Amino acid sequence: MTATTSIIGAPVDRIEGGEKVRGAALYAAEHPVDQPVYAVPLQAEIALGRITGIDPTEAMTEPGVIGVLTHENAPKLASRSDAELAILQSPDIAFHGQLIGAVLAESIETARRAAQLVHIGYEQRAHDVDLHPARSDLVKPELVNGGFQTDTAEGDVDAALASSAVVHDAVYTTPQEHNNPLEPHATIAIWTEGELTLYDSTQGVHWVRDSIAAVFGLDQQRIHVVCPHVGGGFGSKGLPHAHVVLAAMAAQQVTPRPVKLVMTRQQMFTVVGYRTGTFQRIRLGSDAAGRLTAISHDAVSQTSRIKEFVEQTAVPTRTMYAAPNRRTTHRVAELDVPVPSWMRAPGECPGMFGLEVAMDEMAIACGLDPVEFRIRNEPDTDPATGRAFSSRNLVACLREGAQRFGWAQRDPTPRSGRDGRWLVGTGVAASTYPVFSMPGTRATVQARPDGRYRVLIGAADIGTGAWTALTQIAADALDVPMSEVQLSIGDTDLPYASGAGGSTGIGCWGSAIVDAARRLRAQLPNGEPIPDEGVEVTGAIPDNPYAGQLAMHSFGAQFAEVRVHVDTGEVRVPRMLGVFAAGRMINAKTARSQLLGGMTMGLSMALHEHSVVDPRYGHVINHDFAEYHIATNADVGEIEIHCLDEHDPYVNPMGTKGIGELGIVGTAAAIANATHHATGTRVRDLPITLDKFL
Ligand code: MOS
Repeated sequence: MTATTSIIGAPVDRIEGGEKVRGAALYAAEHPVDQPVYAVPLQAEIALGRITGIDPTEAMTEPGVIGVLTHENAPKLASRSDAELAILQSPDIAFHGQLIGAVLAESIETARRAAQLVHIGYEQRAHDVDLHPARSDLVKPELVNGGFQTDTAEGDVDAALASSAVVHDAVYTTPQEHNNPLEPHATIAIWTEGELTLYDSTQGVHWVRDSIAAVFGLDQQRIHVVCPHVGGGFGSKGLPHAHVVLAAMAAQQVTPRPVKLVMTRQQMFTVVGYRTGTFQRIRLGSDAAGRLTAISHDAVSQTSRIKEFVEQTAVPTRTMYAAPNRRTTHRVAELDVPVPSWMRAPGECPGMFGLEVAMDEMAIACGLDPVEFRIRNEPDTDPATGRAFSSRNLVACLREGAQRFGWAQRDPTPRSGRDGRWLVGTGVAASTYPVFSMPGTRATVQARPDGRYRVLIGAADIGTGAWTALTQIAADALDVPMSEVQLSIGDTDLPYASGAGGSTGIGCWGSAIVDAARRLRAQLPNGEPIPDEGVEVTGAIPDNPYAGQLAMHSFGAQFAEVRVHVDTGEVRVPRMLGVFAAGRMINAKTARSQLLGGMTMGLSMALHEHSVVDPRYGHVINHDFAEYHIATNADVGEIEIHCLDEHDPYVNPMGTKGIGELGIVGTAAAIANATHHATGTRVRDLPITLDKFL
C-alpha cells in the first residue's frame, strides 16, 4: 500500500489534541495581550422604542472604570447597511437585548458591577414578538437562506389531494432554539496606527475581516483576524455578530490598549443568532399502492424587523421524494426580535422533522412499513431540478440500517413493546444535506529544502478535526507522510478561505490544497534539491464542471429506540443508529465524532431544546443551562455510526461531501416516530416532553 491510500480515511488522532488537553491551545479570549481593558455590554431592557437618556455618572465613580461607551459618544460607522452590526448609531431599540453600549474597566468584575450602575431611560412602544401561522401580515421573502427560491410548484397539489386514495394533512412545529457552543463568543480587539487586530472566536477569519472592514470602512488589509482554535459554533460564529463591532469600537476609545469582550452564556441568548421557531403544514397524497401523488410543505418562521433571515425549512422536501404534484412555500413574520441566523443545518434540521414525521404517519395510513414506504417513493432524478444525482444512497442507508438495527423483528403495532412500566418503541427517519461550494478559497503549499512541506490556508477548525483532516489531504496530495506536512490555519495573513459553514469546510479547503499540491508537484524539479528559499505554489478551488449538471446531496437513515414511562411520560433513548452516505470519509475517527455529535444534538432537539419567549418583554427567559436544557451524558445511550463506502468523483477532488450538519438532520423525527410506536401518541410539536404522553 502506498502512503496515498493509507492516509485518506485513516482514524488519525487529532494533531492538536495534546495541546488542547494540556490547555496550551489558545482560544480567542486566552491570547496573551498587554494591559487589557475589559468590556461588558449594556443591553436594551425593552423590545421596541428608544433610549431617552443614559447616565453613566454613578458607574464612572467606581474605581477602575475607564469609560462608558454609548450611542452618544460612539464613533460613526462607515456603513450601516447591515443593521445587525450597525450598533450605537442612534437611540433606537429594535429588540430586547440589543447592544446599546459597553462599560470599560480595568477588571471584568469592575466592568460587570459598573454596568449595573449605568442608568438608562427608555421611551417604550408596543412590541410584537408573536410568531403564529394565522397572522395576516406574513411576508413572502424574495429568497430564503442559502439563496433558494421562496416557493416552488409543479403539477396541481390540490387536485391531486382531492383524488388521492390516502391523504395526510397535519401541522408540525419546532420551537426557537439557541446555539450553545462550549466556548462562548469572545473577541479581543486592538487598534494600532489605524490597523485593527481581532482575536475572535469564529468559524471563518476572512468572513470576519471582510464584514468588519465594511462596517468600519477599512481596507481589508488593515484588519488582521486570528483564530487557531474554536470551541464550537454550530453556525452562530459563522459571521460576526454585533459584539465584535462593540469590541472594536471600544478598543478605538482606549487605543492602543487591547479590549477583551467575553460573552456570558446569558448574553449568548440575545445577539449571536438562533434558530427560529417553525410552523409547517405538510400535506401528502398517495395512491392505494403507497406511491405519493402529492407533496406539499408550507413553512412559517420569524425574522427580525431590522434584518431578514428566512429559514429554508421546506427546501429539503424539494429533493427527498418523488411525486408528480409538489409545492413548497416559505412565509415569514417580521417581529421585534433578535436577528435569527444559522444553527446547525438551518432549513434541513427543522424541515426534515416535519417531513419525516409526516412520512411516518403516511406510511402507517397506507399500511406500509416506513422503510419500505420511503424506498417506494425514491426518485430516479432530483425532483427539484430534474438533474441526475452525483450519488444518492438513501435506499442503501435505509436497508443497511434496517439490517443493523434488527428492523425485521419489529412488530409495527403501537404499544406492542413493553418492559415493566416502560413502553418500548422504534422509529426511523431519513437524513439529507446538500453539497455546497463556497467561492474564493486559496491555499499555498511550500516545499522546503529539508524535504518538508508547509501548507498555508485561512481555514477554521471549530472543534471538528479540520487541523487533522486537512493535513491528511495535503499529505495524500503530496504523497508524503503526515509528519512531513506542517499546516497553518486560522489567520487572515494566510491565503483567503471561506468559513466553516454549510458543511463546506473540508470540501472547499481540501480542493484548494489538492490544487496547490498538484501544481507544486508539476513544478518541482525531478530529483533535484529544493533551493534554499524553497518552492511555493498557490492553488484555488478548481471549477467543478459537474456543479450545474448534477444534484449533489448526502443522505442517511437514522433509527431510534425509545422507552416512555407509563406513569410519568419520561422519555429515554437507549439506542440510536445512524447510517450515512456522504462520500469518502477523510478521517474515520473525527468523522464518526462529527456524526455522533450531530445525532446527540438531534437527540437534544428532540427531547429538550426550547427557547421560551416571554411575550410581555420580548426576551428568552430560560437563557442559561439551568433552564435551557441540552442533552447531557446521562441522556445519551448507545449510538452507532456506520458510513457507507460511497464513491462520488463528481463533488470535489477528494470525493467527500461534508458531514458537519448531516448528523442532526432526521434524528428528532426518528425519535418522535419511535415514541409513537411505543405509545400510540403522535407528537408533532418539539420538544417531546413528558406531558405529551399524559
Ligand atoms: Mo453551519 S449552521 O452552516 O455553521
